[in-house]
Amino acid sequence: MDLTELVCIMKTNVYRTLLLIVLTLMLAEPLSSQNVSFNINNFSSASDLLVLGETVVSEEGALYMTYNQSGDTGPYFLSRVLHRSPILMYNLSQDLAASFSTSFTFSIAVNETDISGDGFTFAIVPNALLPHTQSATAAAMGLFDVDIYNGSNRSLQIVAIEYDTFLNPQYNDPDDHHVGLDINSLTSTLARSLPSNLVLKTTNYSRRLTSWIDYDAAQRQLDVYLGEAPTEKASAQKVLSYSPLNLWDYVNSRAYVGFTAGTGIFQERNAIYDWNFSTQLVVVPNLSRSAQSFVSSRIKTYRLIVGIAAGIVIVLTVFFFIEWRRSSKGLHLDVDLMSTPHKFTYKELRLATANFKDLLGQGGSGTVYKGVITTNNGRSEHVAVKRIAKASKEGAKEFKSEIMTIGRLRHRHLVHLIGWSEGQGDLLLVYQYMPNGSLEKLLYAESAHALSWPSRFNILQGVAAALVYLHEDWEQMIIHRDIKASNVLLDSDFNARLGDFGLARFFDHQRDCMQSSVTAVAGTFGYIAPEYAMSRRVSRESDIFSFGVLALEVACGRRPLSRSEESLLDFVWKKHEEGELIDASDRRLQREFDMDEMRCVLHTGLLCTHPDPKSRLPTREVFRILMREREMPELPSSRPVALYVQIQSRNVYGRGILTSTTSPTSHNQTSSLLSQVQLSGPR
Ligand SMILES: Nc1ncnc2c1ncn2[C@@H]1O[C@H](COP(=O)(O)OP(=O)(O)OP(=O)(O)O)[C@@H](O)[C@H]1O
Ligand SMILES: *[C@@H]1O[C@H](CO)[C@@H](O)[C@H](O)[C@H]1NC(C)=O
Ligand SMILES: *[C@@H]1O[C@H](CO)[C@@H](O)[C@H](O)[C@H]1NC(C)=O
Ligand SMILES: *[C@@H]1O[C@H](CO)[C@@H](O)[C@H](O)[C@H]1NC(C)=O
Ligand SMILES: *[C@@H]1O[C@H](CO)[C@@H](O)[C@H](O)[C@H]1NC(C)=O
Ligand SMILES: *[C@@H]1O[C@H](CO)[C@@H](O)[C@H](O)[C@H]1NC(C)=O
Ligand SMILES: *[C@@H]1O[C@H](CO)[C@@H](O)[C@H](O)[C@H]1NC(C)=O
Ligand SMILES: *[C@@H]1O[C@H](CO)[C@@H](O)[C@H](O)[C@H]1NC(C)=O
Ligand SMILES: *[C@@H]1O[C@H](CO)[C@@H](O)[C@H](O)[C@H]1NC(C)=O
Ligand SMILES: *[C@@H]1O[C@H](CO)[C@@H](O)[C@H](O)[C@H]1NC(C)=O
Ligand SMILES: *[C@@H]1O[C@H](CO)[C@@H](O)[C@H](O)[C@H]1NC(C)=O
Ligand SMILES: [Mg+2]
Repeated sequence: MDLTELVCIMKTNVYRTLLLIVLTLMLAEPLSSQNVSFNINNFSSASDLLVLGETVVSEEGALYMTYNQSGDTGPYFLSRVLHRSPILMYNLSQDLAASFSTSFTFSIAVNETDISGDGFTFAIVPNALLPHTQSATAAAMGLFDVDIYNGSNRSLQIVAIEYDTFLNPQYNDPDDHHVGLDINSLTSTLARSLPSNLVLKTTNYSRRLTSWIDYDAAQRQLDVYLGEAPTEKASAQKVLSYSPLNLWDYVNSRAYVGFTAGTGIFQERNAIYDWNFSTQLVVVPNLSRSAQSFVSSRIKTYRLIVGIAAGIVIVLTVFFFIEWRRSSKGLHLDVDLMSTPHKFTYKELRLATANFKDLLGQGGSGTVYKGVITTNNGRSEHVAVKRIAKASKEGAKEFKSEIMTIGRLRHRHLVHLIGWSEGQGDLLLVYQYMPNGSLEKLLYAESAHALSWPSRFNILQGVAAALVYLHEDWEQMIIHRDIKASNVLLDSDFNARLGDFGLARFFDHQRDCMQSSVTAVAGTFGYIAPEYAMSRRVSRESDIFSFGVLALEVACGRRPLSRSEESLLDFVWKKHEEGELIDASDRRLQREFDMDEMRCVLHTGLLCTHPDPKSRLPTREVFRILMREREMPELPSSRPVALYVQIQSRNVYGRGILTSTTSPTSHNQTSSLLSQVQLSGPR
């Protein structure tokens, strides 16, 4: 980047910053320290509202959230409707706190009751901005970006009542029709499932519910009522009650109130028909003393002024600094991560990776480099750029046609595909960067400290959750094809994220399994299911087989195949048949693990690697077992015999677990693969 370009970027940013400051000052509302009260019975005539995101005010005056003019409800819609001016929630220096009462009539309309998502909230939020990343839609219900805030963060200053229609196990949801109190987190402080007469979602577009939320600042008591409209509060049911709730410990003293909603793949129309809201400021004795975040108001004001001044200086400095850094290293790009995947040019990626300088690792499929890009909300983000040379033509074509699908996959246990590019005969894939590298590196690290058992168990649970999503929860079934330790990456909190899904197809017919130590057929030797090796038919069951091998590997700390030792499966089955299954566990753990969890993983691993695909556990079952929602499955006392050994000896390829498509020409090839599999895989 030359000097004129650099100066140009600096200038635009200065203007942008100045504009932002001016706008902020202009938009700042005059402060009011009064009781607030409003009744809205027709949203088409309501003027003091901020209607943000995918929201439509209907002709009848209803608010249709997560809905657009064409009548779509998603995927990944986000909607927020807030009262225009911030409301005084408390004033510590005056020992004043607001009690509030609100009521609204709503309906959550769906076409099929069993698939819908994700609900809406009544929320108290610190600003009137609309989050604009996809990670704030769906389970986040428009509240905040779960990737930035990790599902929960004190600095959010958000308190919300959720009307949740989707079961998210990661946030401990009890079911898919509950109300909950969310304090700075999507994991509810208190959640209550609803009785069947008050089910939230409905296919009946004329059924409406009314909810009342009362907060008593003096008693520190929150109550939520729900009833089928039309009804009075007196005959509504109290569905949630929480105390003590010191609202002043969590929200801004001036905060915005309103509704937020989000949809994911599963969608619904969240309609609000009317809304009443009022606050009464009451004196709460010793409020300032009891407030956790007590800072006397005078100091606060003083700090605010100094803070703003310092803030402006810092922001400007940082802008210049970042620009200067970025121009010399990495790429500045206006990329909207919501409209992923982005098609990059080769040159952009060369810039982003500083000419492919920072090597993260090399695998069977390509080389991975570290890079940095800037998103259009000004955040710079580290990425991992995977460069695949000489990919198989058919595989690449097939993959490219699916990039739009794969790039839309969003799950907290998947490595997101941010974008891609083609150039110089290579295919480049841009992924989220995972600071803690791969499970393989960690599992076999030289250091004396082995990965602890709780982390290992947590990682397996994460991978299982990702598989449920790929296999069952996404709108179309996605087979990973290459589950293995090096494709399980770890984010900053050591949570597992599965990467490289769908990639293995590049290497169909490309690799000679005798030559390459890692990759055979499409997938990785040691992890591939026997029926897949022979028939090349991918299925959920073949992924489950690989998952089983991974589970055993994590429990035993031993590679699936090695030159010097017997195969992992042979080893674990032998231990089981000797009645010493626990002996198979990784010695470096020194038996510091929960015996039941270890047994659970070993049993699950062995059952997932059953030679007969039909006898393997279904994906969701694997997840439930690992989440300990199901009994641990029992193992047969001796290793199941593989069908295909008999098939091979009788030479009848058309039957059994093999598909009838196996042609005579592929027969030889199959046999040579088979002998490989027999050495290593299950017998
Ligand atoms: N998103 C990422 N963030 C950080 N490091 C990564 C990322 N993706 C890959 N890596 C690192 O790069 C290494 C090589 O990855 P790569 O996917 O090319 O090979 P592999 O997983 O061993 O084999 P395969 O080609 O079969 O997937 C990984 O082991 C990991 O350490
Ligand atoms: C709301 O107002 C609009 C226009 O002002 C009107 O057409 C509509 O009938 C009103 N709705 C109700 C429920 O009163
Ligand atoms: C509504 O959303 C759908 C799906 O995202 C989109 O295709 C359509 O263009 C949108 N319509 C309007 C009017 O924005
Ligand atoms: C709280 O009250 C003090 C004293 O009356 C006043 O100066 C201050 O602006 C108030 N704070 C807010 C947030 O309204
Ligand atoms: C809002 O207040 C008006 C006037 O008091 C009342 O008629 C209406 O029923 C209220 N709506 C709700 C949802 O409570
Ligand atoms: C229900 O289906 C109809 C027709 O297919 C569509 O217009 C409407 O938007 C759908 N509603 C929801 C909430 O999905
Ligand atoms: C992220 O969330 C996990 C679990 O919810 C938690 O254990 C971890 O400490 C969090 N990380 C950060 C940086 O807050
Ligand atoms: C909370 O969010 C802030 C700002 O994004 C971040 O700096 C901080 O690390 C987060 N804390 C936790 C515990 O996640
Ligand atoms: C739909 O809801 C309305 C209002 O609650 C009710 O009168 C009607 O009977 C319901 N229709 C069906 C088919 O349940
Ligand atoms: C707010 O309402 C409360 C309770 O009705 C009342 O005691 C108080 O005087 C009101 N405060 C103001 C500033 O109007
Ligand atoms: C408030 O604090 C004072 C001094 O600590 C104490 O004497 C008084 O009892 C407290 N009042 C209440 C209502 O807690
Ligand atoms: Mg990989």
